[in-house]
Amino acid sequence: MKKLLALAALGVMAFAYQDCAMCHNGGMAKKLDTLTPAQIEAKMKEFKAGKGNPMMVNIAKSLSDKDIADAAKKYGKK
Ligand code: HEC
Repeated sequence: MKKLLALAALGVMAFAYQDCAMCHNGGMAKKLDTLTPAQIEAKMKEFKAGKGNPMMVNIAKSLSDKDIADAAKKYGKK
């Protein structure tokens, strides 16, 4: 069990901002290109502060501000 938890923790730490589409491809979570990069960044800062969907809170906490800015640019409205 401990081993499993460690593996799960590693999985979160190894998460890269490039992986957002894994969930945000229109399947389990909404597509991100309906939001502007600024809106995505604002949401991610809320998640990072512990507010909102727990899955996103974990992800946001594992990302640096630069990762978040890059992801917002990559996935936001073009
Ligand atoms: C493990 C699945 C998963 C991954 C990976 C993931 N998300 Fe999410 N995200 C969710 C879920 C579930 C929600 C809440 C449901 C929804 O808003 O569709 C959410 C919500 C959001 C929201 C809020 C949308 C809104 O309008 O309220 C933003 C912004 C967001 N995610 C950005 C990201 C970014 C940027 C990444 C990559 C760094 C990412 N997500 C990676 C599952 C994921």
